[in-house]
This record gives sequence, structure tokens and C-alpha cells, in this order.
Amino acid sequence: MLSLFSSAVLLVESACLLMLPRSVRSDSPVCKSIIQKIHGGEHVIAQIPPNITGHWVSDSCEVRPGPEFITRSYRFFSNHSFQALQFYYQDAQCSRPSYSLLILGHIYPEHPSHTVRGGTDAEYRLHHVLLMCYELEAVPTIQQRMLSSCDLRQPLQIGETYQLLDETGHDCTGGLHFSMQELTLIRLEQHEGMEELFLGDVHTEREHKRRHKPAAYQSPLQRAEVSLHHCAVCRVISVSSFAHPPLLQAHPDPPLFLDGHWVSLRCEARPGRLFLTRQLHFHSKNRTWSGLFQHFSDPECSRASFSISAKGNYTPGDTSRSIRGAVEFTFMVSQMSLRPLDAATISLLSVFFRRSSAHSCGGGSWSLGVAQDLSTTSGCPALGLRLPHTEYEIFRSGRDQFGRYLLFNGQRPSDGSSPETPERRPTAFQPPLLECSSAGGEEQHRQGHWRDEGKEEKRRLVGRGRNNTLNGVIILLTTMIPLMRQINEN
Ligand SMILES: *[C@@H]1O[C@H](CO)[C@@H](O)[C@H](O)[C@H]1NC(C)=O
Ligand SMILES: *[C@@H]1O[C@H](CO)[C@@H](O)[C@H](O)[C@H]1NC(C)=O
Ligand SMILES: *[C@@H]1O[C@H](CO)[C@@H](O)[C@H](O)[C@H]1NC(C)=O
Ligand SMILES: *[C@@H]1O[C@H](CO)[C@@H](O)[C@H](O)[C@H]1NC(C)=O
Repeated sequence: MLSLFSSAVLLVESACLLMLPRSVRSDSPVCKSIIQKIHGGEHVIAQIPPNITGHWVSDSCEVRPGPEFITRSYRFFSNHSFQALQFYYQDAQCSRPSYSLLILGHIYPEHPSHTVRGGTDAEYRLHHVLLMCYELEAVPTIQQRMLSSCDLRQPLQIGETYQLLDETGHDCTGGLHFSMQELTLIRLEQHEGMEELFLGDVHTEREHKRRHKPAAYQSPLQRAEVSLHHCAVCRVISVSSFAHPPLLQAHPDPPLFLDGHWVSLRCEARPGRLFLTRQLHFHSKNRTWSGLFQHFSDPECSRASFSISAKGNYTPGDTSRSIRGAVEFTFMVSQMSLRPLDAATISLLSVFFRRSSAHSCGGGSWSLGVAQDLSTTSGCPALGLRLPHTEYEIFRSGRDQFGRYLLFNGQRPSDGSSPETPERRPTAFQPPLLECSSAGGEEQHRQGHWRDEGKEEKRRLVGRGRNNTLNGVIILLTTMIPLMRQINEN
């Protein structure tokens, strides 16, 4: 049974490769048109509160902070009860399952979210959590983790069902850092016949997972019935069960290449009431990058609030030990400019400009639509931003169901800080970027060229202290801008 599933994936994936071009090689106008379509939320419908009744599945092997490798199969019923299956794996390809959790409970979508515009806040109650282990190798680790919260008299057995939580108050899920806080924030998007269910994000620190109030989303689940035609992974997951975990095909890692122009696939929600689109450009020859981060105040990315252009260089490092197929990088931000695009942003920036020149951001007074170079003031000290600034990154490439190249970079810490030391390097990813034009060259040219680049400079790029983060300035701007907007409106 299990091996049948996996060969089904293999067949479908190779069929895709034969039929579709290996990458979309187009000029920048393509990148522009992708971005323009996103801005303004073309054709995206999202009802509040959404009707999430149905069966929802992952469309890929998901990487959660830790890292944890997981696939999900969630069923929501119209009487508000749900049955969620989470399958955990030992590998980043989701080919070796270690255990699964069957979670039963109720969910009540309530009102428009206060933390994420366009989302719905929900309440949930858990009735049962059941555990089943699949692989002997994985058992000692699970057993060890469970000891902290459970009175385990017997060693765990493969294929047995264990009740970890029930309605009597017995709860032994703590050791697994289990949490269903993702159910407190939901958004359902309908777009060109597709339906995607976004649930709340998972905190990047294990110890905060169980109390986390999501402020952004995980990668979306697909409606099982709709996705069967175009998503082989969804199909495998949708026919799995507690006793029969989905096995995804372990395929060779696609080579990682950065060269070219990459853009967001959708309007991305981030912590701090933030919505943005990203456009990134990498030049491997001189190891430089540039990026345009356009920020909006609404989930359709139609009301611009400010944009940040940044530039710098990067150094490739080792392949990741925890996530197969991922590569470590060190990124330096050396130049940055900020363009205010609404009155609220201008009010905020003007406060800092008036204060004193020692704390100013940029050289002059701010006006609508006019960018200022922050490099001239070594960043924006009042907002905690200093230039230059270093970040420890992780990258991974992938393909979507149409065979297009995707690029994933590291998820930022949930506490709003920056991965400015190697220890704080991310263990999960942001939403993927889509390749819209490559720097040219043949497929072979791309293969593993990052390996050729020198690593000796890696050690020289050390963090320049805290607080000087791109993320920091954005969080500050986005938490203060809604305040300024209110002041302006009153
Ligand atoms: C939600 O959708 C399901 C079918 O998908 C339907 O049976 C149910 O009545 C809907 N619920 C509401 C409240 O509209
Ligand atoms: C809700 O509906 C599901 C599916 O129809 C059913 O299995 C479950 O028992 C119902 N739950 C309650 C509390 O009625
Ligand atoms: C790096 O190379 C790209 C293209 O080859 C070029 O556009 C860019 O200006 C170069 N950057 C620097 C800092 O030399
Ligand atoms: C950032 O700076 C402020 C004051 O300058 C300080 O209180 C805070 O602890 C710093 N944050 C970090 C993460 O170092």
C-alpha cells in the first residue's frame, strides 16, 4: 500500500518534468507583471469568517522551525468538530515517517482578526490527541521527549495507539512541544478555481509554541478534492490515514542557484500587521544582491505604505546539516533607501527627522513618494537600524507543481529579532520566491556553482552587534504606522 503511493508520486513527477519547461526564462517584464497582478489582489476572494468545512492537505513536505518535517491532513465538519492528522518525518523529503498525531476537537471561527487584517480569529478546544509511532529508530527520541510530561511505564511500541490528551485533563503532549495554536488564525483564499486554507504560523522557539498567538501564516493547505488533479503530493496525503502515513518520494536535491530575478508568489502577511511583496536579484559572479521590499497596509497589497530598496553582498557557506538540500549563506546589507508612500509613514519619519540630526533617518525632510538613502546617516539609529548589517541565512530551492523554480530563504525569528549570529540561523523558511528571469546560461552552468565560490571570507563577516536589523526597522515602522494613521484620521 505505502509503496504504491510513493511510486504514484514518482510517475507523476517525472511526467511533469517531461511536459514542462525546466524553468521560466523570461525577461523582467514578466517579473513586473507577476508583481503588478499581486498588487491589488487580483481575483483573490477571502470571506470573513470563512466556511472551512472540508478536507485540507499539505501540497509539499513542510519544514517547521526546529527543524521539524511534517505533512498535514485536516478535516473540518459543518458541526464545528475537526479531525487533524499531523505526520512527522525524520527527513526533509518526508520519505521516512517517524510518528503521527491524530487530533480531535472543535473549532469556532469568531471575528475579523485584530492581529492580521484579512484573517479570522478562531477559538478551539481539544478533546483527544492520539499518538502512533512508525519507525523503531525514531522511538527512543520520542520516548525521551515524552518523559518530561508523561508517566510512561512501558516502552512505546510501533503501530500502537497512545492517548496523549483527553477530556479528563490528562495532557502529556508537552514533551513533544505539541500545539494547535495554528487554529486561532485562519484565512481561506479563493483564486482562479483554487482554494487555499492558511492557518496561523508556528513560533520559531520551541518553548513559546504552546502559547503563541500567530501573527502570520504557515504555507497554505489545499482543498483535497480540488487539488487531486494537479497536485500529486496532495493526492498521496489525502488518501493516507493514522495507520498509513503518506510517504513522499525522496528525489535528488535540486541544485541551489541564486542567479537571476526572483519575486513573491503572493501578497505575504508578516508579523507586525505587515503585508509585503519581495523582489530579489542575485549576481553570483560578484556575489552581490539587491532587493525591493514593498510594504502595504492591507492583505490585498493594494494600499502601499512604504518601500525599502536594499543592496549588499553575500557569501555562500556549508550545506545545512539539519535540512538536507539547504545551503547556509552570510548576507551583508550595505545600502538601503526608504520611500514613504502614505501620510502615516511620513508622519512617523518626520518625528524622527525633527528630533535631532544625530538621530535622523536619511539626510532631509520626508515627502510622499520620494526615496531617501539611509546609508548617508549609517541607517536610521532612531529606529534601531545601523548599516552595514549582517544576517546568517539559509536557502533552499524547489519546484512548484508546474515545474517552475522556487527559492526559499530563512524564516525570521518570531520575536522580531534578526538572525545576526550563526546560532540564530533560521531552521525554517519564508514563503517561496518564484524565478521570473534567470541571469542566463545553461542548466549545467547553474549546477552547484555556489560550491566554486570562496568560503574564506565567511569568517570575516561577523555581526556588528544587535538592534541593527532590517527586520527591526520594518517591525517598528509597521507597529507605529497604524498608530500614526489613527492620529491622522482623527
Ligand atoms: C459550508 O460549506 C459546506 C459545504 O462545503 C456546506 O455543507 C455548509 O452548509 C456550509 N456552511 C455554511 C454555514 O454556510
Ligand atoms: C460532527 O460531524 C462529524 C461528521 O459528520 C461526526 O463524525 C461527529 O460525530 C459530529 N460531532 C458532533 C459533536 O456531533
Ligand atoms: C555585479 O554584477 C552585476 C551584473 O553582472 C552588475 O549589474 C552589478 O552592478 C555588479 N555589482 C557590483 C557591486 O559590482
Ligand atoms: C536594542 O536597543 C535597546 C536600547 O538601545 C535595548 O534596550 C535593547 O535591549 C536592544 N535590543 C537588543 C535585542 O539588543
